[in-house]
Amino acid sequence: MNENHDSDKVVVRGLRDVAAAETKISFVDPNGALYYLGYSIDDLVERVCYEEVAYLLLNGKLPNKNELDDFRAQLISEMNLPEAVINSIKSAPLCSHPMEVLRTEVSHLGMYDPDRDDNSEKVYRKRAIRLVAKVPTIVAAHHRLRINQKLVTPKEEFGFAENFLYMFRGIPADSEEKIAIDRFMTLHADHGFNASTFAARVTASTNSGMYSAVTSAIGTLKGPLHGGASEKVMLMLDNINTEEEVEEYIQGMLDDQKKIMGFGHRVYKTEDPRTKHLRVIAENLCHRANSLSLYSLCLKIENVVHEKKKIFPNVDFYAAVVLNALRVPKEYFTPFFASSRIAGWTAHIIEQYQDAVLLRPSSKYVGEFGRTFVPIENR
Ligand code: CMC
Repeated sequence: MNENHDSDKVVVRGLRDVAAAETKISFVDPNGALYYLGYSIDDLVERVCYEEVAYLLLNGKLPNKNELDDFRAQLISEMNLPEAVINSIKSAPLCSHPMEVLRTEVSHLGMYDPDRDDNSEKVYRKRAIRLVAKVPTIVAAHHRLRINQKLVTPKEEFGFAENFLYMFRGIPADSEEKIAIDRFMTLHADHGFNASTFAARVTASTNSGMYSAVTSAIGTLKGPLHGGASEKVMLMLDNINTEEEVEEYIQGMLDDQKKIMGFGHRVYKTEDPRTKHLRVIAENLCHRANSLSLYSLCLKIENVVHEKKKIFPNVDFYAAVVLNALRVPKEYFTPFFASSRIAGWTAHIIEQYQDAVLLRPSSKYVGEFGRTFVPIENR
C-alpha cells in the first residue's frame, strides 16, 4: 500500500486569500477601494480618459500630452482586422454567443500577428497595444455583421472609447454617452488577481504567447460567476416588472438556492468601489432616456438583497444598466467588459513574463491506492 504523502497538505478551497504572485498593477482593498498603480479609481474616473488608464497600466505611469496623443494615434491605427478574421466572424453561426466569437477570433488573430515569432519585450509591448485596439473591433464587427450592417471605421478625431461605441452602433455618441462609455471602460480596466487575469497569467507563465493568454482570459471571463454576470443581471431586470414584485422574486431565488446576479464579491466585504460611480452614470442615463423606473427598480433590488443577505451589488449590477441605456444588446455586455479589461490582462501578462516563474500549484490527492489492474477483456 502506497503512503499518501498528501495527507498533511492543507487545501485552500477556491484559493480564497491565497497570494499567487506579487503585482504592482492594481490593489483591490477589501474595505472597498481600488487602486491602479497607486492611484485611487475615485481620483481617476472623472479626470482621465480610458486611453490614459490603458497607458498607465501598460507603462506604470500616466502619459503626458504628447505621449497620450501618440498612444491614441497608435491605438486607432491598430483598430483594423485582417480580412481572414472578418470573414471568420461573418461565418460564425447565428446562434453563437459574442463571447464565443471573441474567444475564437482573438486566438485566430494570433496567426496573423506580423511579429508572431518574436517574443522580445519590445514586440510584446507592441502586441499589447495591438490587442487593446483590436479586441473592441472584433466585438463591434461581430455586432455589425450580425445585424447586416456595414463595418464602421474609427475616426481619428474621436477618443478610443467613443470610437468603440461608434464602431459598434454606427452613430456617434453624444457628450453624455461619451462620458459614460469612457468611465465604464476606465472602471473595468483592471482588478487585481480576478479569475480571468489569473487564467491569463497561468498561461503566460508557461511562456506561451499573449494571444493564448488572452484567449484563456476571455474563456474565464465568460462564466456567469465572473464577467458573464452582467448579461444575467439584465435577464433578471427583464423578468421583474414592478418594484412590488422585487421582494417575492428575490425571496424565490434565495429559496431555490440561486445566486442573485450582480451581487456579492470574493474580496470586498463592503460595497464594490466601482458601484457608486456606475450607479451615478446609470441614474444620469436613465434620467435622460426617461427610464427612471428601471433605475428605481435597481435601488429596490439593492435594498431587498442587502436586507436578506447583507451583500452588496458588484461592478456587474449597474454596468448592465449603463450598457442597456447605451443601447448595447445584453449579449454584448460581457464583450464590452472584455474590451476594457484587455488593458489589465495585457499588463498582467507582461508582468508575468517579467516574473518568469511557472505558476503551477499542487493538489491534495484524496483518491484510492493499490487497486488491482484488470485487463480490458476481463472488465
Ligand atoms: N446571491 C445570493 N447569495 C450570495 C451571493 C449572491 N449573488 N453572493 C454571495 N452570496 C452568499 C453565499 O451564498 C454565502 O452565503 P452563506 O454564508 O449563507 O452560505 C455568502 O454570501 C458568502 O459568499 P461566498 O460563498 O463566500 O462568496 P464567494 O466569494 O465564494 O463568491 C461570487 C463570490 C462573486 C462568485 C458570488 O458572490 C456570486 O456568485 N455572485 C453572483 C455572480 C456575480 O455577480 N458575479 C460577478 C462577480 S464580481 C465582478 C466580476 O468578477 O465579474
